[in-house]
Amino acid sequence: MTQYNMGKILVTGGAGYIGSHTVVELQQQGFEVIIIDNLSNSHAGVVDRIAEITGIRPEFHRFDLIDWKETKAFFESHRDLSGIIHFAAFKAVGESVEDPLRYYRNNLDSLINILQGMKDYKVKNLVFSSSCTVYGQPDSLPVKETSPIKEAWSPYGNTKQMSEQILRFSVGTYGLKTIALRYFNPTGAHESALIGELPIGIPNNLVPFITQTAIGKREFLRVFGSDYDTPDGTAIRDYIHVVDLAKAHIVAVNRMISGGTKSDFEIFNLGTGNGFSVLEVIRSFEKVSGKKLNYRIVERRSGDIEKVWADTSLANGELGWKSEKSIDEMMLSAWNWELALAKSSAKK
Ligand code: NAD
Ligand code: WQD
Repeated sequence: MTQYNMGKILVTGGAGYIGSHTVVELQQQGFEVIIIDNLSNSHAGVVDRIAEITGIRPEFHRFDLIDWKETKAFFESHRDLSGIIHFAAFKAVGESVEDPLRYYRNNLDSLINILQGMKDYKVKNLVFSSSCTVYGQPDSLPVKETSPIKEAWSPYGNTKQMSEQILRFSVGTYGLKTIALRYFNPTGAHESALIGELPIGIPNNLVPFITQTAIGKREFLRVFGSDYDTPDGTAIRDYIHVVDLAKAHIVAVNRMISGGTKSDFEIFNLGTGNGFSVLEVIRSFEKVSGKKLNYRIVERRSGDIEKVWADTSLANGELGWKSEKSIDEMMLSAWNWELALAKSSAKK
């Protein structure tokens, strides 16, 4: 069994999609993990699945991080944290447009409470989940960390921009270290098919919509727009396997713990550096699943950008991290996860 000799890491939002995969990687690298999650977008069963994969049950606390009393009590009783990875946030772009205050309150108050706890209880190291959404539609591609931050397209995107600013102005003053990781489009699932993305209701994101269509939960996929200025007319994104993404967090945590950071506040793009169009993603899915996907080309989705992919040279060079998994591996693992979900709900 893995020994806890690397330190104790608090993972907020650890029952969620990216958080759960990161907890697995942390435990497998010998970190002791404590999860805080209010299960607003996840299920307690995820903690069981994590334990099934790693053989170690992470300590789990269910409460809302916007509650300072609860957050303070947690810090009070956990005085030996080596670092924090802060995933907890709401992430649905459309929902944020419908109820912006709910998004500002959840995403900003939870971050402020975490920072307050770090300041008061002397926890130094924070990894923060940021997003490529902060770039909007970049003027040149691939997009670099130094590219200008554009006017936000949604309250959700704005919470990520504001969070980065809150961090930028807080770290120096309070003697903290932060690494903000700007994820591109996370997709796929753990190879065990025990954890994966669990969208509540109708998925907004492309890949869960594809797998749910293929399994028969949705009638057809709407491909939003075929008149973009791209080789096949459909929009381009940088899809990255969630396990590759999870591994980057371990590198970031180690960099901070070992004192390897070059400034108090570092930012890294996490993508593959390759863009795939919606039609290319569909082709990959059809190839690995052996299933023909029912899809229709429809109008563009409002608020969508045309194309974006990452310049990953900073993460490759500085972190020594590189994504390893191909688009086919992303699609196959996402499909196996959908099949596993269908099997487990058939059993009930
Ligand atoms: P997720 O919804 O699966 O996970 C977030 C978890 O945080 C959930 O389990 C939820 O219950 C929990 N949570 C939310 N608010 C909370 C609160 N106030 N207190 C306690 N727990 C709370 O989302 P994810 O896809 O794993 O995303 C993780 C992080 O990465 C988020 O910050 C998200 O904005 C960011 N991100 C995600 C994507 C993506 O496409 N998935 C892309 C870029 C950035
Ligand atoms: C990908 C492509 C769609 C669904 C969102 C957030 C962003 C970030 C990642 C958190 C686009 C097309 C999709 C469908 C489709 N999240 N599509 N039919 O829009 O790049 O980014 O998730 O930070 O902030 O905005 O991801 O998966 O929704 O879409 O044709 O049913 O697939 O138009 O081109 P997106 P997505």
